[in-house]
Amino acid sequence: MTNEVLETIKRRRSIRSFKEEQIKDEELQAIIEAGRYAPSAMNQQCWHFTVVQNKEILEMLNARAKKAAAEIDNEHIQQMAKNENFNIFYGAPTVVIISGDEAALLIDADCAAAAQNMLLAAESVGLGSCWVNFVVFAFQGDESLRLKQQLGIPEGFRPFYSVVLGYKKVERTNVPAKKETVVNYVK
Ligand SMILES: Cc1cc2nc3c(=O)[nH]c(=O)nc-3n(C[C@H](O)[C@H](O)[C@H](O)COP(=O)(O)O)c2cc1C
Repeated sequence: MTNEVLETIKRRRSIRSFKEEQIKDEELQAIIEAGRYAPSAMNQQCWHFTVVQNKEILEMLNARAKKAAAEIDNEHIQQMAKNENFNIFYGAPTVVIISGDEAALLIDADCAAAAQNMLLAAESVGLGSCWVNFVVFAFQGDESLRLKQQLGIPEGFRPFYSVVLGYKKVERTNVPAKKETVVNYVK
């Protein structure tokens, strides 16, 4: 069986190449609303969304994240971080940083549910999106508190993920292999 929602789920791909043109505010609002309607443990809705559309701030976050990531003990991440051509946001004009209230019950699950809702909403309105975890490296180190304040992230909240949004430069049709043997049935 299929329907519009199931088709959107299957059509969504991580997009890593964007047009410069900014997305429309009504598109952004629909995507944020989808995030707000995600399920959350005990309905705590422990998320906070920071929408960044300022090019200088995005470049600063990109540079900070890459600098911190270059130091970590993972060769793959280090290689990405040291690649001058790598932009952690892939040039997307809008980035939504999803932070979670550290006092909440299941913070990363709540934030992940919001992120996924936003990715699907983006696909449903024809936008490209990608879940970008790399952003968390920008918030490591002594300057983290000041950076969170600069971005208006509430006290007691920690950035977990980001979702990047923009118009797709190229449509991705190659579906990465999806494991099929991940289910068993107990009837
Ligand atoms: C928790 C999580 C973190 C991710 N972080 C990144 C990231 O930092 N950068 C990136 O390019 N993609 C990131 N992705 C996207 C995955 O690479 C992508 O979903 C996966 O390769 C499958 O491709 P698809 O989204 O097109 O199905 C992340 C996805 C998840 C769920």
